Amino acid sequence: MNIPQSNFKPLEPILTEYAKIPGSLITILQKAQEIYGYLPKDVIYHIAEKVGTTPAEVMGVATFYSQFRLAPIGKYLIMACQGTACHVNGSERVFAAVSEYLGIESGKTTADGLFTLENVACLGCCSLAPVIMINGEAFGNLTPEKAVSILKNLREKEEA
Ligand code: FES
Repeated sequence: MNIPQSNFKPLEPILTEYAKIPGSLITILQKAQEIYGYLPKDVIYHIAEKVGTTPAEVMGVATFYSQFRLAPIGKYLIMACQGTACHVNGSERVFAAVSEYLGIESGKTTADGLFTLENVACLGCCSLAPVIMINGEAFGNLTPEKAVSILKNLREKEEA
């Protein structure tokens, strides 16, 4: 079996800086996720070796915190706000429509690798509630129809 091997080079300066500092595992994992977009298995093993712990322990931390992803994300990361302002303005219906259109739940990626959907807490733009953020761009005052039409446009753009 041909298992893809991650390139550890960009991770080395981070490991050099933090590996021997007690309690810095979360920082290392955050920075690794910034580099790879998620935490590949071989990266977890590599970090464990450098930090001097077991892969199971690193995996335990990675699975405990919801900020860490263990699978690659899609081209478009959709963060659907479930904060209070969005909630009272109908975020549940927006999320349900998006989830149904894409055919995935929160934390999952579409089979074509285009969209990853994530429920998140307040995105910091409550005056636009309900809000979703797609690759860092906020879309506000959404209705279920508006949200789906944004995704349809993105999909059409990709297919063109
Ligand atoms: S509650 Fe959704 S942006 Fe603040």
